[in-house]
Amino acid sequence: MAASLPVPALARTRSALASQALVLRAAKGRAKLLGPDRPETEVWSFNDAIGGPLLRARQGDEFRISLDNQLPQATSIHWHGIRLPNAMDGVSNLTQSPVPARGTFEYRFKLRDAGTYWYHSHNRSWEQMARGLYGMLVVEEPGPPVADRDIAFIVDDWRLDNTGQIDAKSFGALPDLAHAGRLGNWLTVNGQPGPTFKVRTGERLRLRVLNAANARIFRLVFADLKPWVIALDGQPIVPRQVKSGRITVAPGQRVDVLVDMTGEAGTTTPVKVVFPRQVIDIAKFTYGPKAPLRRGSRAAPESLAANDLPGPLSLKDAVKVPLRMEGGAMGGMRGAMMDGRLHDMRDLMSAGKVWAFNGVAGLPQKPLLTVDRGRTVRIDLDNANRWPHAMHLHGHHFKVVRRNGKDVEGSPWRDTELVQPGERLSLAFVASEPGKWLFHCHMLEHQAGGMGTWVVVS
Ligand code: C2O
Ligand code: CU
Repeated sequence: MAASLPVPALARTRSALASQALVLRAAKGRAKLLGPDRPETEVWSFNDAIGGPLLRARQGDEFRISLDNQLPQATSIHWHGIRLPNAMDGVSNLTQSPVPARGTFEYRFKLRDAGTYWYHSHNRSWEQMARGLYGMLVVEEPGPPVADRDIAFIVDDWRLDNTGQIDAKSFGALPDLAHAGRLGNWLTVNGQPGPTFKVRTGERLRLRVLNAANARIFRLVFADLKPWVIALDGQPIVPRQVKSGRITVAPGQRVDVLVDMTGEAGTTTPVKVVFPRQVIDIAKFTYGPKAPLRRGSRAAPESLAANDLPGPLSLKDAVKVPLRMEGGAMGGMRGAMMDGRLHDMRDLMSAGKVWAFNGVAGLPQKPLLTVDRGRTVRIDLDNANRWPHAMHLHGHHFKVVRRNGKDVEGSPWRDTELVQPGERLSLAFVASEPGKWLFHCHMLEHQAGGMGTWVVVS
């Protein structure tokens, strides 16, 4: 099938990335989002691949990528979840100037952490990512988990018009900004609608699930496959088997799972997505006729080696900062600061700013906080509105340490956390990386509509 993301073969295949410089060319392209025999959709993509080329490297590699911008707009590339020098973080107008049309920029950094990461445009992301400017970045562990195959599973939802083209008229539409963001009407996995993964009975697959949608929270059901979750947002956890097969992935998040293909030859197992009023098949596994690779499931997986993330969290002397999240439809927000002045709701709406963090709509002139390197920071989120949000911190992973007034222990490291309406969550991290780091909602219309701030580590 054309326009598919290259499905990586065995876990141990190495790309030549370590030794080669790679070019990511951002440009208009065409993709068979509607399926192999239907008209193509015009997209914006990296190297003409939907979901970009899958970049694979080894932990410790020096990584060198040059962006060649052939788009009609300025752009930049953010390496989501990666610890890197701040100047390489790719945030237009915060860590670099956007790369103009026909311009180039070289990203260079060392891959300190293994796991499943991704890269995407970070200028007008609500438009550029909705058009397809993103891809997966896999940093291989020195000791990968035991699996027969390693497969990217990138879910996205596109908003297409009735000619099958990306609906450009609704980019940045106020109702999307104020509600759940730009929800699509067309689902793909690796850029294909309802793809079939051919499997063999007895195989164990490692699926790297990434939610690349602008705003949709995907509730996936791996039917009766009982997946083992082995990592979240790139960071290993103690493997946990999900008997229900249900896995929730908020925009920006990754979930690494191992699944044992225990079905009979010739049968099919769907992967479903649960919506409030319906359930849709998004992909399927089809068992080939070959003799089983092995009988039954493999043994419980072992934990992957942890990345050397900075710790421990010293919560007692943490720098604490509140972050009140307000606005959106039915939020009752009266007004907020914007460009240094107080504005009422009507002004804010005409500027497309309908959300505020601590009373400021859009990126504030001053950071949320400035903190010395090495300190533990606790951000106390108060999600005082009617909507869930997927809060993402750049350059660091954090843990949830309090939820609705109660201490929480043993949370996983994450770089993106789903916060429910009305919920109060405290996130803690060690401010280890110097520079300016964005903290925003990864529902891209919420970000565009005002949900962004930044932290300075000095
Ligand atoms: Cu994945 Cu600021 O983004
Ligand atoms: Cu949000």
